[in-house]
Amino acid sequence: DIELRAIHQEPEKYADREITVRGWVRQNRSSNKFGFIALNDGSFFKPVQVVYEADAIDNYGEIAGLALSSAVRVTGTLVLTPEAKQPFEVHAKEIVVEGPSDPDYPLQNKRHSMEFLREIAHLRPRSNTFQAVFRVRSLVAYAIHQFFQERNFVYVHTPLITASDAEGAGEMFQVTTLDLDNPPRTEDGAVDYSRDFFGKKANLTVSGQLEGEIFAHAFRNIYTFGPTFRAEDSNTTRHASEFWMIEPEMAFADLNDMMDVAEDMVKYILNYVMEKAPEEMAFFNKFIDKGLLDRLHHVVNSDFQRVTYTEAVELLEKSGADFQYPVYWGVDLATEHERYLTEQIFKKPIFVTDYPKEIKAFYMRANEDGKTVAACDMLVPGIGEIIGGSQREERYDVLKERIRELGMDEADYWWYLELRKYGGVTHSGFGLGFERMIMYATGMGNIRDVLPFPRTPKNAEF
Ligand code: 4AD
Ligand code: MG
Repeated sequence: DIELRAIHQEPEKYADREITVRGWVRQNRSSNKFGFIALNDGSFFKPVQVVYEADAIDNYGEIAGLALSSAVRVTGTLVLTPEAKQPFEVHAKEIVVEGPSDPDYPLQNKRHSMEFLREIAHLRPRSNTFQAVFRVRSLVAYAIHQFFQERNFVYVHTPLITASDAEGAGEMFQVTTLDLDNPPRTEDGAVDYSRDFFGKKANLTVSGQLEGEIFAHAFRNIYTFGPTFRAEDSNTTRHASEFWMIEPEMAFADLNDMMDVAEDMVKYILNYVMEKAPEEMAFFNKFIDKGLLDRLHHVVNSDFQRVTYTEAVELLEKSGADFQYPVYWGVDLATEHERYLTEQIFKKPIFVTDYPKEIKAFYMRANEDGKTVAACDMLVPGIGEIIGGSQREERYDVLKERIRELGMDEADYWWYLELRKYGGVTHSGFGLGFERMIMYATGMGNIRDVLPFPRTPKNAEF
């Protein structure tokens, strides 16, 4: 049999020929003489119309009564119909039911709410919206690999189980083989992790960055692309407990070099999906986010704004906007502030750079002013932060002092410090939140609806 995608791409090739196709029934309408099936096998976003006539097939009653999502094999002739809404259709000679479906199939032909679809995560990939989302998700993953591979970056697989807290934010899922109801204890009563399989307290990774820096000092340019985990209990449309992150790390690159790569990458991804998934993107533009395509075309053809944190805070203070959280120098920007900057002031993606050191991670390079670090976040309209990055502190003594200052255990970072001792150089990197990138590319409004199986607080059934 032939994939429906092949027919959509080259209908002329199959015109007036007998073909066999297979798929699931998405729509089925019939009179007492003839009927239509919208058939989809998932290989292409749009269905193929199958026409069946009582005179032409010998099981007309069975087919006319088929429930949605029944799987069928159709043999018939492909007929070009250039004057009709569908440019071709299959005139069936034989329809065999390969997998019947119950009439109570939950995805009937109407709009379902995203909340309802989340409850049937085993069926929602069959709906139009999720056909489009997960095809685009797959393409964006491929585009990201292609972008970095074309530029000679080495793909590094960093560990998921690790002893390090890369962000120093303490948002980790602990991993242990100990019986925590009755754990071994040290003399002072603390849980004795030395008897755990990892020999010390271990957790799921929050970021592969620190391990990425190891490889950047060996291969110059590397990237990671894998799942990361955050045990933050934030119930927002942009946070998940399990999400995917892309983390390039570049030796001999400063913060500006890093922002150039980040900007090129985002434009590359957007161009790629608009070229490779035009049907899906048209669907988002029509049903999910009107104006999406115009906006994305504009974004790929414009320069992203770069503004310092200090300038951004001044702009927010001067704006006179009525924020829920006050803005002042030193504050960690809230989503409302980020979105105001990118949506109201600049109206395009922006980089905010040089944040106060107190609100950023320990590894970021200290600026000359003694107050800020060489950090940057990329903010986009509709979402806020999609990328966080920085130039890393490459000076051994400065880094060591910062680790002490923050009360972190220097011994835990011995290997990280040694990178600075043996040929440490200027280096920079960033992390792109994969799901937030998908949200930006599709206009989908909730991170739960771009993850095949979202893991958010209180949500892990499937
Ligand atoms: O800003 P973050 O925490 O930066 C890091 O982890 C650095 N180690 C990255 C680096 O420099 N290599 O996270 C990076 C991005 C954010 O900008 C956001 O897009 C996404 O990861 N992100 C989340 N996405 C979904 N759910 C969450 N809970 C997320 N937390 C961060
Ligand atoms: Mg961040």
